[in-house]
Amino acid sequence: MMAPFLALCCFLGLAHRLLAQSTFDPLAYVDPLIGASDGGNVFPGASLPYGMAKAVADTNSSSNQGGFTLDGSVVTGFSTMHDSGTGGSPSLGNFALFPYTNCPGGDIDQCAFPKKARARFGAFANSSVSAKPGTFGITLAGGIRAEMTTTQHASLFSFSFPSTGLDGQPAQPLILQDLTDLADSRQDNGSVSVDSETGRITGSARFLPSFGGGNFVLYFCTDFKGAEILDSGIFVNSRASAAVKNLTISRSINGYPLPGGAFVRFKSGAKPILVRTATSFISAAQACSHVETEIPGFDFAGISNAATEAWRAKMSPIKVSTKGVNESTVTNFYSGIYRTMINPQNYTGENPLWSSSEPYFDSFYCIWDLFRSQLPFLTITDPVAVAQMIRSLIDTYRHVGWLPDCRMSLNKGYTQGGSNADNVLADAFIKGIKDGINWNDGYTAVVKDAEVEPYDWCCEGRGGLDSWKSLGYIPVQDFDYKGFGTMTRSISRTLEYSYNDFCISQIAKGLGKTGDEEKYLGTSEHWKNLYKADQTSAWWNGTDTGFVGFFEPRFLNKTWGFQNPLNCSNLDQFSVCSLQNTGRETFESSIWEYGFFVPHDQATLMTLLGGPEAFVRRLDYLHDQNITYIGNEPAFLTVFQYHYAGRPALSAKRSHFYIPSFFAPTPDGLPGNDDSGAMGSFVAFAMMGLFPNPGQDVYLITPPYFERVAVTNPTTGATAVVRNVGFDASYRDIYIQSATLDGEPYTRNWIDHSFFTDGKELVLTLGRNESTWGTHVDDLPPSLGHYAGFNGTYSAKRMTGATGVRSYRGEFGISGNKWGS
Ligand SMILES: *[C@@H]1O[C@H](CO)[C@@H](O)[C@H](O)[C@H]1NC(C)=O
Ligand SMILES: *[C@@H]1O[C@H](CO)[C@@H](O)[C@H](O)[C@H]1NC(C)=O
Ligand SMILES: *[C@@H]1O[C@H](CO)[C@@H](O)[C@H](O)[C@H]1NC(C)=O
Ligand SMILES: *[C@@H]1O[C@H](CO)[C@@H](O)[C@H](O)[C@H]1NC(C)=O
Ligand SMILES: *[C@@H]1O[C@H](CO)[C@@H](O)[C@H](O)[C@H]1NC(C)=O
Ligand SMILES: *[C@@H]1O[C@H](CO)[C@@H](O)[C@H](O)[C@H]1NC(C)=O
Ligand SMILES: *[C@@H]1O[C@H](CO)[C@@H](O)[C@H](O)[C@H]1NC(C)=O
Ligand SMILES: *[C@@H]1O[C@H](CO)[C@@H](O)[C@H](O)[C@H]1NC(C)=O
Ligand SMILES: *[C@@H]1O[C@H](CO)[C@@H](O)[C@H](O)[C@H]1NC(C)=O
Ligand SMILES: *[C@@H]1O[C@H](CO)[C@@H](O)[C@H](O)[C@H]1NC(C)=O
Ligand SMILES: *[C@@H]1O[C@H](CO)[C@@H](O)[C@H](O)[C@H]1NC(C)=O
Ligand SMILES: *[C@@H]1O[C@H](CO)[C@@H](O)[C@H](O)[C@H]1NC(C)=O
Repeated sequence: MMAPFLALCCFLGLAHRLLAQSTFDPLAYVDPLIGASDGGNVFPGASLPYGMAKAVADTNSSSNQGGFTLDGSVVTGFSTMHDSGTGGSPSLGNFALFPYTNCPGGDIDQCAFPKKARARFGAFANSSVSAKPGTFGITLAGGIRAEMTTTQHASLFSFSFPSTGLDGQPAQPLILQDLTDLADSRQDNGSVSVDSETGRITGSARFLPSFGGGNFVLYFCTDFKGAEILDSGIFVNSRASAAVKNLTISRSINGYPLPGGAFVRFKSGAKPILVRTATSFISAAQACSHVETEIPGFDFAGISNAATEAWRAKMSPIKVSTKGVNESTVTNFYSGIYRTMINPQNYTGENPLWSSSEPYFDSFYCIWDLFRSQLPFLTITDPVAVAQMIRSLIDTYRHVGWLPDCRMSLNKGYTQGGSNADNVLADAFIKGIKDGINWNDGYTAVVKDAEVEPYDWCCEGRGGLDSWKSLGYIPVQDFDYKGFGTMTRSISRTLEYSYNDFCISQIAKGLGKTGDEEKYLGTSEHWKNLYKADQTSAWWNGTDTGFVGFFEPRFLNKTWGFQNPLNCSNLDQFSVCSLQNTGRETFESSIWEYGFFVPHDQATLMTLLGGPEAFVRRLDYLHDQNITYIGNEPAFLTVFQYHYAGRPALSAKRSHFYIPSFFAPTPDGLPGNDDSGAMGSFVAFAMMGLFPNPGQDVYLITPPYFERVAVTNPTTGATAVVRNVGFDASYRDIYIQSATLDGEPYTRNWIDHSFFTDGKELVLTLGRNESTWGTHVDDLPPSLGHYAGFNGTYSAKRMTGATGVRSYRGEFGISGNKWGS
């Protein structure tokens, strides 16, 4: 009797799920144009997840780091390599194409060849721009429609022409390809050739990376289809000739790369002209092989469908209930997720620097930004890709000698603070990412960061290690005769090195290296050496903030230096705080904000700052007075650090304070550079309601912005669900009253990664007021030191490190640590 009923129930259930699957399309909620103006610097064009080919229209905006901008600037070309969300100089954008319907009077020299000159023809209407995962399209004012899509290494463009050119004469399209890049960084001896029979253009040039030293050579190969060739040739500056097919060009003595390139002209523009183009770091032959194998038939519909499906597959593990929620909220969420998979880029098979069977990923831009939430996000949604990225980082260490802190276009990028790849490796390690990773080599790499100072620590490792080891901090005006780098940021480097060492200790623990674990736990406490208990903080007008106890710089002789704790904050418009050699002791952030950067020992920090209530007051002041700015990554964790003071409700409130006010799903909606997909991952994690403390097996729980969020682990197939009971789409009821995990009461305000790998269900019951849920000392996330000043006192068993102890020195983190034990 039961059987038919069961069958019916399950059949209906299945049908319902199938229906839900077929109707819910995450791609409908992705807007790649978010961050395309106002300094978001995102790449809004066509790409595969982690793809090397990234096709878009490039504009002449001063904020064109990602190629295209929607800020009134005009199009100067269409190119196939980009980075996303970066600061620094514009990246890549090499070998731009540009189409003309004809050259006035049929005279080639009447077409504008140099980038600056062709900008006159690059105006477009905003409404003509179409950006979707895997495709991008735009119509230039002259009527040329450009559509583009990509494979892993190659881009396919389709240019449709009006019947007549600007002179009213019939279309006779010319497409040029320019030996340039976005930053005009081309060096000497760029070369190009055009084959008069086929129109194939090949060439190469040497360029500079956008935030690092060194240079790189990039090759390309371009083929055309769709119309008979009229003629072809090369151009130099503003003049072209069909009689010359090869060119090697100087950078010129005038400072810019002299414009130069090739062109192909066609007899008719009646049908769209298809252009397939690829780049390679290996050779022009390899670039040609990419276009031939990846885009054999110039099949635009086929290639763009495949690109769309690749994105759908990547996005489909994450499903939310859209019930009652403003569509812009859903768009914000999925677009953020989408941007986590643009950079880093998969250059496997494209690395000329060493030969290896390991994957090679590039555009870690920069790890100082990515370690906080972007790479942890991918650890949940795409652990297979993260494993390959980790293998690539370790392989880079094997061949370059060091883990990178920033890497782009095959070159070392500048280090901003600590050796933060240590955090990335630890985060993946403790979350069980294995998949072909040689963790012994990974461990050797992070230990080298801690132990060996590079001669030039601009771009890898750490500086000042002698002082670090003898004094326990990085002194201001250090004496360092062994290694050389920008001698600023002594406070932020001390704090980051401390956390790096904690991360190393966690790998050591997992590998059973107990001595090392203790050693690096010890040095992870070095942050205490820069804490000046009697330091006050006054505004520049003299008004005291009322807070006492801040990190301050210290000299070699152990006496204190001074930096106003508010300097380098969002409100300080005068101090120089980035990598300039006149920079301050904190990097792109104030002592106020860095004052919270002790991710591994919030308990001890909180006690130093006067206990949980004082800690909360200080966090509130940081946010409410705009001392912090959510547009830079050090702000991320501070939004959720209320959890450590037993006030998870305040983290939820603060999350809604920033989203959507500071993150609108519009082109100008980002508060700063996306920094690859760092901002995107912040939004995604915050809306999902589980924010990581990266490098630790900890997600801080807040209510998702949706009634239900489900994440299917692509490796285990298990689906983790967070469900809100009493969900309020107007976000007034954002306070957790009680929770269950797999049906059992759950009071901890954090959860670990097994939630995702095992596919657990967390049910949160919401209300309008803060409750006692997650506030008891037993509910707090792990910390190296002990929590004090809470009303719920420690039980003796916790103090002695018995079962359930929350100290990193105790049992926490040892495999087998079970919930509720
Ligand atoms: C296009 O949008 C950008 C950003 O919103 C704006 O600055 C620009 O003026 C718009 N252009 C037109 C022609 O409306
Ligand atoms: C971009 O090109 C347009 C049209 O030629 C020009 O007016 C504008 O000044 C250029 N902008 C930049 C930043 O070069
Ligand atoms: C350019 O080519 C010349 C002649 O072969 C050579 O001397 C010079 O070093 C090259 N420059 C670069 C930057 O490759
Ligand atoms: C032009 O370049 C092509 C391709 O690199 C090469 O095969 C050919 O020999 C060159 N022709 C001349 C005249 O240098
Ligand atoms: C949805 O959100 C957008 C952007 O925040 C807002 O402008 C709009 O009014 C909202 N719509 C509704 C129905 O609340
Ligand atoms: C990276 O590229 C290699 C070679 O094409 C491929 O085998 C691998 O699956 C790619 N990795 C990801 C995460 O897409
Ligand atoms: C000084 O500046 C702070 C922060 O802007 C402000 O809150 C305070 O009122 C100012 N005090 C005086 C006396 O202007
Ligand atoms: C310590 O060093 C600082 C910076 O060089 C100097 O100003 C200070 O006088 C020294 N203090 C002592 C006690 O030597
Ligand atoms: C600190 O910031 C204030 C306000 O921007 C500025 O006037 C002052 O020069 C800064 N001090 C230093 C040492 O940079
Ligand atoms: C902080 O900045 C926001 C705008 O970003 C502004 O509305 C608010 O008044 C500022 N608060 C203070 C205390 O300056
Ligand atoms: C929430 O707190 C307010 C202020 O303390 C109180 O007036 C209200 O009744 C509370 N609401 C609920 C649902 O408990
Ligand atoms: C401890 O209890 C006192 C008195 O009830 C209360 O004012 C304070 O906020 C509590 N502190 C914490 C951290 O819960």
